[in-house]
Amino acid sequence: MPLPQRIAIDGPAASGKSTLAQRLAETLGYLYFDTGVLYRAVTWAALQRGDAVEDADALTDLAANLPIDVRPPSKADGRKYDVWVGKHDVTWAIRSPEVDRWVSIVAAHPGVRQALIEKQREIGRRGRVVMVGRDIGTVVMPDADLKIYLDASAEERARRRYEERRARGEHVSYERILAAVQARDRLDAQRTVAPLRAADDAVVIQTDDLDAAQVFGRVLALIEDADC
Ligand code: CDP
Repeated sequence: MPLPQRIAIDGPAASGKSTLAQRLAETLGYLYFDTGVLYRAVTWAALQRGDAVEDADALTDLAANLPIDVRPPSKADGRKYDVWVGKHDVTWAIRSPEVDRWVSIVAAHPGVRQALIEKQREIGRRGRVVMVGRDIGTVVMPDADLKIYLDASAEERARRRYEERRARGEHVSYERILAAVQARDRLDAQRTVAPLRAADDAVVIQTDDLDAAQVFGRVLALIEDADC
């Protein structure tokens, strides 16, 4: 039976999407593509330029013209890939609390989404891809061969993000991370265009009581059973 060629993984912040997708892509020899990087890069550039995050026209224009590039990692500092905006290596800058705070407002502008969607679809059309985001199964690749929706309570997701940041040597507060995760959940689920939700044909996996290896095992079993 042929393996699913296009795999969509959606879910809220810190639900384990990237960890799962990276491992799947490595195992299957597929491309891993994290679409959050695009929204984060636009947000980073808007903050650099001093654009107001409410300015739909300026942000749409920025999203349509920003030279964002995702490449193999150039440094061994924990990164899985490089993200460049023009001549700036923004790999870590796009993970800052400042970008976290504003990214969901930037991503809610329909014009910004429209400008970024074509890049994502083009990569999807090539196949052999594991694509991660909020609207991959519903909007970007509605005809994906396999759709996974990873979920977990906000508390568990905040705990994971807290551990990740501490492991990177950052001084962070769990309460602040939880509040930020909840704020982003609200914005992502309530926006009018492409809100966060599981596609009707997605397999929903609740991950509160599962570790990364267990989630991976379940999804691998689904892939082996998938009827494409
Ligand atoms: O890694 P984490 O789950 O925290 O976030 P991310 O995947 O990097 O996405 C950051 C933000 O970009 C999300 O909170 C959404 O507001 C937006 N996003 C989106 O709207 N659609 C996508 N396909 C991916 C991200």
